Amino acid sequence: MNIRLSNGKVIPMEMHKVRIVQKTSLPPIARRLTAMEEAGYNTFLLRTRDIFLDMLTDSGTNAMSDNQLAAMMVADDAYAGCESFYKLADAVKEVLGFGYTIPVHQGRAAEHLLAKVFVKPGDVVIMNYHFTTTKAHFVLAGATVLELCTDEVLNTQSTNLFKGNMDLKKVEDAIRKYGAAKVPFIRMEATTNLVGGQPFSLQNLRDVKKLASSYNIPLVFDGSLISENAYFIKQREKGYESKSIQEILQEMMSQVDILYLSGRKSTSVRGGLMATNSKKYYDEILAWLPVYEGFATYGGMSTKEIEAMAVGLREMTDTNVAAASPEFIQYFVNRLVENGVPVVTPAGGLACHVDAKRFVPHLPQAEYPAGALAAAIYIASGVRSMERGTISNDRDLDGNEVYADLELARLAIPRRVYTMSHIEYVVDRLTWLYQHRDLIKGLKFVEEPKVLRFFFGRLRALDNWSANLAQAFEKDFGPDF
Ligand SMILES: Cc1ncc(COP(=O)(O)O)c(C=O)c1O
Repeated sequence: MNIRLSNGKVIPMEMHKVRIVQKTSLPPIARRLTAMEEAGYNTFLLRTRDIFLDMLTDSGTNAMSDNQLAAMMVADDAYAGCESFYKLADAVKEVLGFGYTIPVHQGRAAEHLLAKVFVKPGDVVIMNYHFTTTKAHFVLAGATVLELCTDEVLNTQSTNLFKGNMDLKKVEDAIRKYGAAKVPFIRMEATTNLVGGQPFSLQNLRDVKKLASSYNIPLVFDGSLISENAYFIKQREKGYESKSIQEILQEMMSQVDILYLSGRKSTSVRGGLMATNSKKYYDEILAWLPVYEGFATYGGMSTKEIEAMAVGLREMTDTNVAAASPEFIQYFVNRLVENGVPVVTPAGGLACHVDAKRFVPHLPQAEYPAGALAAAIYIASGVRSMERGTISNDRDLDGNEVYADLELARLAIPRRVYTMSHIEYVVDRLTWLYQHRDLIKGLKFVEEPKVLRFFFGRLRALDNWSANLAQAFEKDFGPDF
């Protein structure tokens, strides 16, 4: 909850108490430089022991509640007919209004099933913006992915509050061009991940649904960050200020044919689900569930996580829970803007996104500015961020680079995990880094996987820049920090 202090300053207040903690430590600068070299300048390949604050992702890293942990203790491990599943199905019905629930082991498993059941070679899947695993599944199934967000999404200094909105004209033009038969579904992603965690409005969702229905195309909703999008609607969309998160969620879901989500985010567990009110879609998807995931009442998830997900679904309807990360991110973004550090505005859900094109404008995209910036952030702070730029795009079939629309270093704020002093520390080190940005140079691949290369690829620093950066840091802060 945002609280106004007597001096007028607004701060995000933690509406929870910290009762269990995990120790962390700050490796000194020399170790950070070595660790980055060992990790091949890929933050995915760092080990936890070398990380001070892990802002790689909010996926599976949110703090669970006492009630979620308690629910895990009463899980029913039955292979079939598991009672825990029925609790999840009840929570889905109550919170989201769907009568059919399919558990899956995580979000990409749902994407795999969607691709298997609905996508044919030559199809065109329309979405506001892609997510890495989503695109991989649909492209592997032979489809082309079209991202038809409004152009404003590429403006990293925008004041548009709904940059995740779909551009309806572009959608209609695409359907006319390719023919509705080639479009298996339209996918709307809540709090659009790869473009700065930007939400869409309920009005836009309604308009997309109306358009899709007029061509008989189903609407698929990626709800991995569903409660955060609902929170933004409450904060930013006229007419929703006094609606509850649950009312907004239900209004959103009334527009949706198939919902899928990674439970690792809004519901603070490790798992995923699909849900629908269509018996036809349910039967088509269910047929493949035992082949790829597991029986209908566990779908590849641990039953403990299923219990915790049922609780997490209800808890995410609490405004203070839905607001926890967005308000911290807003504060984080505001502090960086005050210090002149280029970040994506408006603040979104999931993370504070540093704009590498403006932070290191001297680096061409061929030298991976966002990847270099993520490596530099780690060296200067021990904070792990994630590259969300050209490295996160795979090459095309002819081996050419696919330059990303945005080059971002993403500092995720897992829900309820970090405190104000953590945020202030990162703000300080990012500000120092910005003042020393000329020291940051590019990266070059030394090992480059063909699919989802950002996970396991290894790179090297051009012109030994990382050692120069570490030296400058040590000069200002000493060898111990
Ligand atoms: C929007 C979105 N969709 C799908 C996924 C994939 O989910 P998972 O990591 O659980 O497989 C993610 C993961 O971060 C995501 O953010």
